[in-house]
Amino acid sequence: MNLPDLNQAKIRTKQKIEVRNATNIKSDLFVGKKYFIRTYGCQMNVHDSEEIKRILENLGFRETLELENTDLVVLNTCAIRENAHDKVFGFLGRLKHLKKEKKELIICIGGCMPQEENVANILKDKYPFVDIVFGTHNIDDLGKMILNLNHQQQIEVYSIEGRVYENMDYIRDSKYTAWVNIMYGCDKFCTYCIVPYTRGRQRSRKIENILKEVNTLKEQGYKEITLLGQNVNAYGKDLEENYDFATLLETVAKTKIDRIRFVTSHPWDFTDEMINVIEKYQNIMPYIHLPLQSGSTRILKLMGRRYTKEEYIQLYYKIKAKIPGVSITTDIIVGFPNETEEDFKETLEVVNECKFDGAFTFIYSPREGTPASKIKDTIPIEVKENRLHKLNEIINSYSLAHNQEYIGKTEDVLVLGQSEKGKDKVYGYTKTMKLVNIDGAVKDIGKIILVRITDAKSFSLDGQKEIFVQN
Ligand code: 5AD
Ligand code: SF4
Repeated sequence: MNLPDLNQAKIRTKQKIEVRNATNIKSDLFVGKKYFIRTYGCQMNVHDSEEIKRILENLGFRETLELENTDLVVLNTCAIRENAHDKVFGFLGRLKHLKKEKKELIICIGGCMPQEENVANILKDKYPFVDIVFGTHNIDDLGKMILNLNHQQQIEVYSIEGRVYENMDYIRDSKYTAWVNIMYGCDKFCTYCIVPYTRGRQRSRKIENILKEVNTLKEQGYKEITLLGQNVNAYGKDLEENYDFATLLETVAKTKIDRIRFVTSHPWDFTDEMINVIEKYQNIMPYIHLPLQSGSTRILKLMGRRYTKEEYIQLYYKIKAKIPGVSITTDIIVGFPNETEEDFKETLEVVNECKFDGAFTFIYSPREGTPASKIKDTIPIEVKENRLHKLNEIINSYSLAHNQEYIGKTEDVLVLGQSEKGKDKVYGYTKTMKLVNIDGAVKDIGKIILVRITDAKSFSLDGQKEIFVQN
């Protein structure tokens, strides 16, 4: 891969990282009270909500899934596209009504939206019934803010960067699979993306602290961990120590925890060493989420992605050749400002070449403050919608074709819980992150079992637990 265009790449200086321990305020002031939490957006937010849950439970709250019965609501918000905003403001309308009926209801807004310049002001001016507003850099202030409530809106949002958190305590959503934050923020500054502004510059945790967390999770019986970051392949580049993602992966693999995966990867930072480590260790899952974003080199350059169409395809084949059975998924944006029919055709060409196992596809959404939002766009929304539709059809056909290849095979599946598909069915994931609905394995929740795949759809597989008859 070529060196980055230094005019485009922000040259980073090593920053002083402030390591903060989780604040652990305990109180019995809210014993008997309930909280309702809604999480929007990416896995990072899902994991942040696990921290928010711990903060609330430390104050005595317990979770409810019924909005009508709750004493406190937290919306953990996302800013990545405009429709994420719309959903939150829509939900706030509902909460306004609820608060009229129940005056003591506490409403809290956190996550990425308050980190945007205007949002905190909008909440102040137009949504005075929101009690607490906090951001991504000070989630740990939430407990203190709830204890300080005094009928006045409290807004505490910091643009402080350079903080990482250690010794965190979470209420994890699963007993079998866990998120492990390896870094915060992102340094890539893709021109369409708001993440470097809402989450700050890249800050990596030290390997020894990550290792300690993974070992604890293993002792607690966790079967799978996901190393989490906006751009995991750039792990360590901001640290004094000579750490990189390949070293981290190898160190974590040696703990012998059953399964390890990681999200999200940036093609530009993906090295041969990383591929070698993934190949070498059986407990690193052969599953890679590798965002393409566009198949047109012209658009990729405008996006500041730092790779060409050909370089992406080259990396794709390198990974495929080295890691047998690997499943590769991607993210694609259609309708970047002035994306031509020719540009879009190139995206379809890459999709037809790479035949991804799956993809998250989006229509470009201008985000205030990002460089791309300043480009005047002439492409009508109907054209963008048609492109998305066409792309999804092709993507889904490849997903189905990949899934059909599994029929008749026997796969290791980590069983995670009861399936919505029926009383006797459970669901789990293969090593390649294929969702499987399984018959006859209710007592196997939390275990890795062998499953014979019997049928395939675009988004899931059906299977039966493999029963071995001993002679
Ligand atoms: N508009 C549309 N999609 C976006 N993404 C990031 N920013 C935008 C935007 N402004 C998509 C990218 C990224 C995924 C998490 O969200 O594809 O990989
Ligand atoms: Fe956003 Fe991902 Fe680009 Fe970072 S690498 S700026 S999170 S799209």
